[in-house]
Amino acid sequence: MGKKKTMYVCTECGYDSAKWYGQCPSCKAWNTLEEITISNDGEKASVKATDLTALTIDQIPADDENRYLTGMNELDRVLGGGIVAGSLILLGGDPGIGKSTLLLQICEYLGQKLKVLYVSGEESAHQIKLRANRLNVYTENLFVMTQKDIVAISDYISSMKPDIVMIDSIQTMNVYSNQSSTGSVTQIRECTNILMTCAKKNNIPIFIVGHVNKDGDLAGPKILEHMVDAVLYFEGDKQLSYRILRAAKNRFGSTNEIGVFEMSGSGLKEVENPSLMLISGRPDNASGTCIACIMEGSRPIFAEVQGLAAPTNFGNPRRMATGFDYNRLNMLIAVLEMKCGYYLGNMDAYVNVVGGLKLDEPAADLSVAVALVSSLKDTVIPDDVIAFGEIGLAGEVRSVVCCEQRIGEAARLGFSRCIIPKNNYKNISHKLKKEIEIIPVSTVREAFENIVS
Ligand code: TYD
Ligand code: MG
Repeated sequence: MGKKKTMYVCTECGYDSAKWYGQCPSCKAWNTLEEITISNDGEKASVKATDLTALTIDQIPADDENRYLTGMNELDRVLGGGIVAGSLILLGGDPGIGKSTLLLQICEYLGQKLKVLYVSGEESAHQIKLRANRLNVYTENLFVMTQKDIVAISDYISSMKPDIVMIDSIQTMNVYSNQSSTGSVTQIRECTNILMTCAKKNNIPIFIVGHVNKDGDLAGPKILEHMVDAVLYFEGDKQLSYRILRAAKNRFGSTNEIGVFEMSGSGLKEVENPSLMLISGRPDNASGTCIACIMEGSRPIFAEVQGLAAPTNFGNPRRMATGFDYNRLNMLIAVLEMKCGYYLGNMDAYVNVVGGLKLDEPAADLSVAVALVSSLKDTVIPDDVIAFGEIGLAGEVRSVVCCEQRIGEAARLGFSRCIIPKNNYKNISHKLKKEIEIIPVSTVREAFENIVS
């Protein structure tokens, strides 16, 4: 018993092997395999097959899912309707993006009914107090502790029995029995394991903050993703004030939902209608911009797509995409050239999605193409038009999902014309057709000519 075994784990993808490699055989990253020691106790535990029983699914008591609301709709929605008791939630994001702010801020609402324990390994109690004042968090039910020893913290949680725990951050926690340095993969993995046991045993939900490194991976704990119940990423450009919260994994809800926040002088503010924010500030009478509509979970979101086609100075034209897939942009340019008669072969082409949003749905194709053509022809797209549709390799505009929902939202936001795929048109209700002008198109050229006519 207690024998230790050595293994090597990739910090990028979590691949493990008994042998060390310079390059990870799974994700091909170099120099990412780290040595970890695991005890062999598990293998020697002797549970006899005759001692085991399996329950039928209806023998298992069906307690109602117990969820705590956080007082922030945007966060609740990303969590799938609030915090599930006993769940372990990883909140990842770049340093300084606002993870600690978000967690501290929800304490005020949670503290009205629940006992919250906030454990920080990064800031002193005094610093947390200053921040809490700034965020108007004064609840008596918030308990703050600065500690890094995870075993002690876990014991404290078991005896104090708070209703919710926040650990800020997992990179600063350590297990003293473990030889490796704080923040290493072994430490992070072990600490998360201890927290997981603690959360499940006491049925207490625990938030874990995890910093993301330069490459966009959770520093080390990419390997944590499979251990926790939910992984939320806090994204956004630090220069801009918008922040987008996205679920990368959620055992208790959908991963399609996003929450949008704005960082202000007194903490994060929810943005209930992100579309208004994303399309505000659109330049007047400028060519090369078009409004796109994508579905983020159950919500249609509008964003401004900007395209710029400029004569190239070099042999090879440059293509650049921010917020849109680079390869897909190249494909769209090829389709525009070969199938629609818009020549970009001697043009640099740039695409930018305003506000830091990522358009990763095919429905955004049409607006990207229209924005580029608008720039190429130097023709202004009127600001009451939106366009969506997937573009196929034959230059055709293909149908998309949730068409009625997108049109309904466009009408609500005050747009007066929608360019949609022809195949979607027959399924649109008469009521909607009366509310807003709907123009079905089957090619990119048809779309562009309809918009500017
Ligand atoms: P923080 O929550 O400390 O980031 P993280 O925990 O993800 O590392 O956020 C810090 C940033 O947020 C900092 O650059 C300042 C900004 N901020 C505000 O703009 N307003 C505020 O009220 C607070 C508390 C922070
Ligand atoms: Mg922090």
